[in-house]
Amino acid sequence: MLEEIRTEELDVERFISEKVKEIADAVGEGTAINALSGGVDSSVVTLLGHRALGRRLRTVFVDNGLMRQDEPEQVVRLFQELGVPVELVDAREQFFAALKGVTDPEEKREAITQTFYRDVFGRIVRESGARHLLQGTILTDIDETVAGIKRQHNVFQQLGIDPQQAFGYQILEPLIQLRKDGVRKVGQALGLPASLFARIPFPGPALAARVIGEATPERVETVRKATVVVERLLQDRGAFQYLAILHQDRVTGIRDGQRDFGQQIEVRSWDSVDARTARPSRLPFELLEEMAEAILREVPGVVSVTYNLAPKPPSTMEAI
Ligand code: XMP
Repeated sequence: MLEEIRTEELDVERFISEKVKEIADAVGEGTAINALSGGVDSSVVTLLGHRALGRRLRTVFVDNGLMRQDEPEQVVRLFQELGVPVELVDAREQFFAALKGVTDPEEKREAITQTFYRDVFGRIVRESGARHLLQGTILTDIDETVAGIKRQHNVFQQLGIDPQQAFGYQILEPLIQLRKDGVRKVGQALGLPASLFARIPFPGPALAARVIGEATPERVETVRKATVVVERLLQDRGAFQYLAILHQDRVTGIRDGQRDFGQQIEVRSWDSVDARTARPSRLPFELLEEMAEAILREVPGVVSVTYNLAPKPPSTMEAI
């Protein structure tokens, strides 16, 4: 396995030219596909791929129904402005069908992985004749998967899975030696706008990682609405990542003088450098109150809002 490149030791220009060459050599005269989610990692891979392959790289954004409010359209528009055409593929029905009735966290991840790599990308790759998929796996994804903490949805080789055999294509991972802070530096040097390279991390399983229990379209919509509030109120606070989680248990509340057995939202805001360890941000109580009130007002069916105080470890940053 390739060695870690520590962020302090990262020579950004050299890294970029080496990776551009590696991608160009691996793909040869062929074509490659890349999956853009709009996160920092996949955005950086998209730009590296474009430098290496130009029009021989097809960039696809898969709408899995689990993304944040208006995210698919926003990401496509942003990359269009950077001169990178992005195809939007609507796979919402496929993902919700695969998630139906699934409540166990690892089974949920597996359902998303299989739908993404085998069904959606399997078909796109077969139809396009490409042999390579470029993706933005980073070192932290590998560490935690290998340590058996969480199966990150994009990790294969390290688990003994050969993507060529399992899905019919090879996966290229140019960021595999970096951590998040290193990826951000590379993104900045590649000319990604701050709105992209400074974006907070968002997990591969998307909002399904923030719904405890079954990820139905309705439950995902609830956590999506809560996410809008949390991101709006915390965007200028300098935290590493902030998110909303929908709990499975219901609690008794009152609405309009009536008993309302309602849903619970948990808010998390993390201070961290590289996501390996993290502490809850020390937010002013007034801001927490404002956030709770906004969630109760803007997210139907919610009667309880909590703020997580447990650090990672033993917590993890996402909920599943
Ligand atoms: P955890 O929850 O493992 O998250 O402490 C560490 C960082 O990785 C991001 N991330 C993921 N988390 N499954 C996850 O649980 C994934 O597939 C995934 N991909 C990325 C997460 O958002 C946090 O920044």
